[in-house]
Amino acid sequence: MALKLPAGWDLISLDSIDSTNAEAMRRAEAGARTPSWVWARRQTAGRGRQGKTWVSEPGNLYCSALLEMALAPQALTQLSFVAGLAVHSAAHCCLADVSRPLDLTLKWPNDLLLNGNKISGILLESTVRPGGSAVVTVGIGLNVGHSPQAETLPYAAGSLATAGASAGLEEALEHLADAFAHWLAVWNEAAGFEAVRDAWMERAHGLGTQVTVNVPDECLVGRFEGLDYDGAMILETDGGAKRRILAGDLFLAPPSPAWS
Ligand code: BTN
Repeated sequence: MALKLPAGWDLISLDSIDSTNAEAMRRAEAGARTPSWVWARRQTAGRGRQGKTWVSEPGNLYCSALLEMALAPQALTQLSFVAGLAVHSAAHCCLADVSRPLDLTLKWPNDLLLNGNKISGILLESTVRPGGSAVVTVGIGLNVGHSPQAETLPYAAGSLATAGASAGLEEALEHLADAFAHWLAVWNEAAGFEAVRDAWMERAHGLGTQVTVNVPDECLVGRFEGLDYDGAMILETDGGAKRRILAGDLFLAPPSPAWS
């Protein structure tokens, strides 16, 4: 059965590819239409944040949204929160039939946690087409059917299936595509980043608590106050100073050396 995507979106569906982000970029440079989703059932060289590998065996969702937009750094930061909200909404829909209590939270900058275990990651990449227009690839991995082998990961991982969800990949992608179109519209057309920021903070992991944030060459400890109006994280350090952080890794407990 054909997948139902929001009006105006194309779908490129593949059995196997190195990385849906890489494929989306190649297609963008060759003039592919936007907006579109590139979806593969398996990736042979899935990319994670900070140059890490994203283990991509069949059974989980690997997809990238290809969008044409202005490449302002602030816009990319904000888009990553739009994507986080979309994955949160999609997972919430997939879990609708599960009766046991579930805790679905967004961990800054854009991981999705289910009962404290990571079930999704997001990787944004951008390029400029030969004609000069800018395209952004929002790559999303969502653990639908299984969690990758624990011993290969430096964090606790989970999946929708482990929590009792019966949704398949097609259903998960349809929910994700709908939710992404919805949150993009909130950001672009309606209430702007302020509404995205407020919604993101309502779902934030560890908001208001003591956290550790690893930034390049520094490990900061303080209270996670929220997001600034441009998407930066605000941390009140133990000395009382406010720090704005644009990139880093957040931990609720002191970080283990293996995570840094
Ligand atoms: C992270 O490290 O948390 C981000 C992981 C992003 C993985 C997704 S899977 C689909 C898309 N294609 C890739 O190669 N990476 C992203």
